[in-house]
Amino acid sequence: MRRVVQFSTGNVGRHSLAAIIGRPDLELVGVHAASDNKVGRDAAELCGLSEPTGVIATDDIDALIALQPDCVVYTALGETRPMEVIEEMAKLLAAGINVVGTSMVWLVTPRQADDWLRAPLEEACAAGNASLYVNGIDPGYSSDSAVFSALSLVTRARSVTVQEIFDYGNYDDYEYTGTAMGFGNSPDDPLPIAFQLGVITSVFGGLVRNIAAQLDVELDEVRERYEPWYTPERIECKMMTVEPGGLAAVRFAAEGVRSGEPVITVEHVNRLTSAAAPDWQVPPEGQLGVHKVIVEGEPRVEVNTLLSHPVLDVTEAGCLSTAARAVNAIDWVCRAPAGLIAADDIPPTEMIRGLMW
Ligand SMILES: NC(=O)c1ccc[n+]([C@@H]2O[C@H](COP(=O)([O-])OP(=O)(O)OC[C@H]3O[C@@H](n4cnc5c(N)ncnc54)[C@H](OP(=O)(O)O)[C@@H]3O)[C@@H](O)[C@H]2O)c1
Repeated sequence: MRRVVQFSTGNVGRHSLAAIIGRPDLELVGVHAASDNKVGRDAAELCGLSEPTGVIATDDIDALIALQPDCVVYTALGETRPMEVIEEMAKLLAAGINVVGTSMVWLVTPRQADDWLRAPLEEACAAGNASLYVNGIDPGYSSDSAVFSALSLVTRARSVTVQEIFDYGNYDDYEYTGTAMGFGNSPDDPLPIAFQLGVITSVFGGLVRNIAAQLDVELDEVRERYEPWYTPERIECKMMTVEPGGLAAVRFAAEGVRSGEPVITVEHVNRLTSAAAPDWQVPPEGQLGVHKVIVEGEPRVEVNTLLSHPVLDVTEAGCLSTAARAVNAIDWVCRAPAGLIAADDIPPTEMIRGLMW
C-alpha cells in the first residue's frame, strides 16, 4: 500500500485524486489546495465523490511533508510559475518524498530538459533519495509510448509524425490555454506567449530530440512553424466567444530536420469548434479530438487514439488520461533509483499494475 498526497485539484488533479481514493493499493493521506475556497474541505468533495474520506485539504506544505507520504501527485499549474514549482517539487524530493505529476511539461523528456530546470531537481532527488516523473497524454503518451508502438511495426521508417488534432471549444480554460494560444486575438495583436519565438521548440522540441535519440537519428536542426486561422464568422463555445476576425484555430509544430526534410514532427492542430479551419486536418468523423501517430515507412502505420467517456466530454477524458499517466506510475517510481525518470525508463507493464481490481 502506497501512502499518497494529491497536490492540487484542478482539471487534472481532481481525476488523479478520485483515482487515488478509488484504488485499493493506494492510500490517500493528504490533499493540497491553493485556493481559499478549497482549504478545509474533504478530499471527496473536491473531486465530486459523495462519501467523505476524512482527509481535509490544506495549503500547508510542511504539514503534508510531516505525513511522510511515499509519493505526491503534483498537478498544480506549473508552466506559468516555473521557479515556484521547482522550489515546491525540490522541497518534497529533498524530504525523501517521490513525486509523480503532470506539471512542467518540459520534464516529460527530462534528458532533454534545460539545466536551469534539471539541476535543482536532480540535486533535490539526490539529497532525499527520491524520484520525479512527469507525464501526460500530449506531451507524454503520444510521443513517448504510442510512437514507439507504431515504429515497432515497420522495417524501415522514412518519417514519423505525432499529432494532437483537437477541438478545444469545450475546454473551459480561457485563462491559461485560451490566452496562451491567443484565441480571439486579431492579426494585429502581438503574438501570444505560446507562439513567441522559440516557445514551440522549448515545449515540443525535447519530444522531437528524444525520438531522434531513440531512433539513433542525427538531426541537422529542430525548427518550429506556426499558422493562425482567423474566423470570418462569430464562433461561440464553452471556452469563449470569438468575434469575426478573431483567432479560432492554430496549427503548429516542432520539426526535426535531416538533409533539409522534416523527418520527426510533433504537431498540434487546435480549433474552437468544427467551424474553425475546416480545410485543416480533422479528427475521425464524429470525434472532437484524436492523438495520432503516422509512420511513413515499410509499411505505413497510423495509430489513432480516441478517448470517450459516458459522462465526461473528450477534453475532460484527456485530463483523466493525463492523470492516469501519473497515478499509474506511482508504485514503480517509489521503487526507482533516485533521480529524474522518463517514460522509457519504466517497463510498460509496470504502468498497468493494479489497474483491474
Ligand atoms: N501533458 C499533458 O497531456 C497535459 C494535459 C493537461 C494538463 N497538463 C499539465 O498539468 C498541469 C495541470 O493542468 P490543469 O489543467 O489541471 O491546470 P489547472 O486546472 O488550470 O490548475 C491546476 C491547479 O493549479 C493550482 N494553481 C493554479 N494557479 C496557481 C498559482 N498561481 N499558485 C498556486 N497554485 C495554483 C490550483 O490549485 P488548487 O486547485 O489547489 O487551487 C489549480 O486548481 C499543467 O501544468 C498542465 O500543463 C499536461
